[in-house]
Order: sequence, then structure tokens, then C-alpha cells
Amino acid sequence: MSDITTLDQFNAELQRIQARADVLVPAATTTEAVEAARVELVGRTSGVLTALSTALGALPKEDRREAGQRFNAVRVAIESALDAARVTQSAAASVKLADPTMPGRAAWRGSRHPVSIVFDEIEAIFRELGFTVALGPEAEHEWYNFGALNFPADHPAMDMHDTLYLGEGRLLRTHTSPVQIRTMQAYAPPIRILAPGNVYRRDFFDATHAPVFSQLEGLAIDEGISFADLKATLALFARRFYGTSTKTRFGPSYFPFTEPSAQMEVEVDLDDGRGPRWLEIMGCGLVHPAVLESCGIDSERYSGWAFGMGPGRIAMSRYGINDIRLLYDSDVRFLEQFSAC
Ligand code: DAH
Repeated sequence: MSDITTLDQFNAELQRIQARADVLVPAATTTEAVEAARVELVGRTSGVLTALSTALGALPKEDRREAGQRFNAVRVAIESALDAARVTQSAAASVKLADPTMPGRAAWRGSRHPVSIVFDEIEAIFRELGFTVALGPEAEHEWYNFGALNFPADHPAMDMHDTLYLGEGRLLRTHTSPVQIRTMQAYAPPIRILAPGNVYRRDFFDATHAPVFSQLEGLAIDEGISFADLKATLALFARRFYGTSTKTRFGPSYFPFTEPSAQMEVEVDLDDGRGPRWLEIMGCGLVHPAVLESCGIDSERYSGWAFGMGPGRIAMSRYGINDIRLLYDSDVRFLEQFSAC
């Protein structure tokens, strides 16, 4: 740089270096290239800008101040461009370090509760048949839970030992059947509803009992409905739910709100090595005329059928769950097993 002795020469060299930096830095697309540009431009021993700084002393005294300021401005601009390029390239380099063929980290997925799975499947089957979902309160009036359903005043289900009374004529509903009454009061036939929900009984928690459990109620009311409609619909449901070749049978039963009353059994093989067996899955029957009348429905013109089942028990038999408490524990190790269902 010893040939630089005037301000013009100095400025020209400074401009050349700036132009060189303007080409070199943007072209540096790797951290190595950025480092090479740094060495060439501002490296301590061989950098062109460093070399030019020695020429400052050879300039006429009156030009040194201006030259120094220009020099510093260019140095700062180049260094900050180099710094920015280094940051960009090292960020890019660390992205490249992540191997795109490496397996991803699996996102943790929750799973649905077995009772919800059963609920949803049953609901889907009945929705196809024209049923809609109806809900009712869990804290219910005695009349909806018992009286309107034709329970005689001394029925054992109404015993304090079985029912959780809230006082002032109210109780925690012992079944979902009161939703039948609420629906028939609110809507004129034809009616086709499915009523899921929790029900309460004064029971101890053990492997086969729980003081709160789920029920699923069904109700169909129309003109000319017979027991044949009940049998056909519920048998169709069983074949959809358990498989097309599932056998069903109906046996006599008793409920105050149906006449005649029945229970439906399905023959299922639970794959537990014990072979096929009959499982009782629901109570059902033709709606008692007294129940229709308590809702203001003309029992001469309309008839209907109803059923009630326990999705918890159905889930237990389907998945081989032998302790009802597992359905309540929210134990992830238990629930995870249903993530594929
Ligand atoms: N409510 C009955 C129970 O809790 C179940 C039931 C049986 C409901 C027959 C019905 C039915 O609608 O027709 O045990």
C-alpha cells in the first residue's frame, strides 16, 4: 500500500474494497465462506482493509482526519455485514444438522374412554334409524323418576336404601327413563330418541357395582307400533354392533313402565377361550299405556317401545374388562389400550 499517498488514491482503494465486500459477503453461503471473506477483507495480517490502514499514516496530515472517518465507516459496514452473514449461515448450518430422515418425535395422543367408544358406536347405529339424542337432568323430580313411569308407591326401587334423595321431592335419577317422560311431554309423536347419561344408586364401589354409572335409553312412539318393531329394531342393532351373524333372544321380564316387558340377550364369543355365551344386554318392552297417558299421549291412538342398557357393562364384556372400577380410575396405562379403537 506504499504507493497510496493521496486522499484520492486512498478513497479509490476504499471504494474498491467496499465493492469487493459487496460481492464477497452476499456470495458467502457457508460459514467457511463467510470466514474466508472475513480473512480477505479484515483479517488481522492479510486483510485488504487492515493493509489500507497502514496507508493512513502516509497521507498528507490535513487529509488524515477525513480519510480516517471514511475508513472507519467502511470498516464498520463490512464488519457488520460479515457478522450478519455469520449468524445467517450458522443458523442454516444448524438446521442442516437436523437429519431430515430421522424419525420424528411422536406427538402424545389421548385416547377415548371405552364407554365413550361404545356410546358413540351405538348412537351412530340408532342415528341411521332416525333416532336423535335427548338429554335430561341428573337431579330429577321423584315424579319423573318414578311416578310418571308407573312405579307403585311402595316399589322397592324407591327405597331409601337404593335411591339418593336430595329432599324436597328431588333425587339423583336412578335411571335414564325419566328422559322418556320429559320427551313425551315436550314433543308430539312420532318420537325416536336415544338418551345417554349418568345415573345414581346407593351402591358400594366394588368390582361389579358403582354408585354412578352410565345408561342409554331408547324410545320410539308412533301409530301402530308393535312388539315386532321392537324385536326387529333391537335385533338389527345387535347384529350391527356385535357382528352380522349375532344371535339374539328375548325373555320375559318386569318393569313398571313397560307391558309386556322383556330382556334381550345376545350370543357373543368374547375370545376368552370360554366359547360363545348368552349375555343379557338390555331391558325393553312396549311402553305401558299409563305412561303414555301420564304424558298426555292418547294410548288408544299411539303405542311405542323402549329399552335401557348399560354401556359400561357392554364395554366391559366387549373388551374383557373384569373390574368396573377401571372405568373410573382415569389410569392412563389402562386408557391407552383403547387408542386404536
Ligand atoms: N330403567 C331400567 C333400569 O334402570 C332399564 C329399562 C328397562 C329401561 C326397560 C327401559 C325399558 O326403557 O323399556 O333398570
